[in-house]
Amino acid sequence: MAILTAGPILVFDSGVGGLSVVGALRRRLPEASLAYACDNAMMPYGRREDSWLIPRILAVCEAAFAVSDCSALVLACNTASTLALAPLRASLSVPVIGTVPAIKPAARLSQSRHIGLLATSATISRPYTLQLIHDFAADCRVTRVAADALVVQAERWLAGESVDAAVIRDALAPLWIEPDLDVVVLGCTHFPLLKDFLVDASPKGVNWIDSGEAIARRVAEVVPNASRGLVPGASFVTGYDARLTASLAAYGFAEPRRLNIN
Ligand code: DGL
Repeated sequence: MAILTAGPILVFDSGVGGLSVVGALRRRLPEASLAYACDNAMMPYGRREDSWLIPRILAVCEAAFAVSDCSALVLACNTASTLALAPLRASLSVPVIGTVPAIKPAARLSQSRHIGLLATSATISRPYTLQLIHDFAADCRVTRVAADALVVQAERWLAGESVDAAVIRDALAPLWIEPDLDVVVLGCTHFPLLKDFLVDASPKGVNWIDSGEAIARRVAEVVPNASRGLVPGASFVTGYDARLTASLAAYGFAEPRRLNIN
């Protein structure tokens, strides 16, 4: 009798940002088998050209898909999802769950009808993002802030290094120009990893929203019979880096294997 086994849920990001989504997945699906892949050799993605990013994201995700034998791919990167979800879905034979800025819940929550979007340079100006704002926050003012510097800070923090409070304060400053803004969307998966620093650096209380829980809910719907976790899960990188290995180990992933990308 054939024994059918479903592979792990593969989580992909440019760097460690997807680990914020891993946290949400583990809370919702504590027994599911997870694997992690990142394109650390080429991160950050946030200021790269779309014409370079699309084939690159496809190549890395296809390579990780082939070696992980995954049952689903979670594209835990807003910069990648707002650009490459459709070609990835066309290319892979498993469900692909994307991560896009949580504009809809933010608009539902805002009393003042003024929300902030904190994301990479790429994400804040993508047609996909503008369409989300048009569809779900048409009656809101949306202050879009490129905060690429926070990606580097999140990588440092996870690697056990200190975070630069001045960088965080400067990155957030454009949000506070108008006093009525009451909700901030964390539209980059790296940013929830810095949440305590973001709250500390804010001159007033606002609601911070990220997409982690919504993605985990969606994954639970799409992969109802997720296979049970092999601990530690496999991980895949595009370049060896001892600090990254330590960050992955802290989230329960095995020593990474290097993907060969042509
Ligand atoms: N974590 C990624 C995102 O959600 C992007 C970080 C980067 O590589 O710029 O957009």
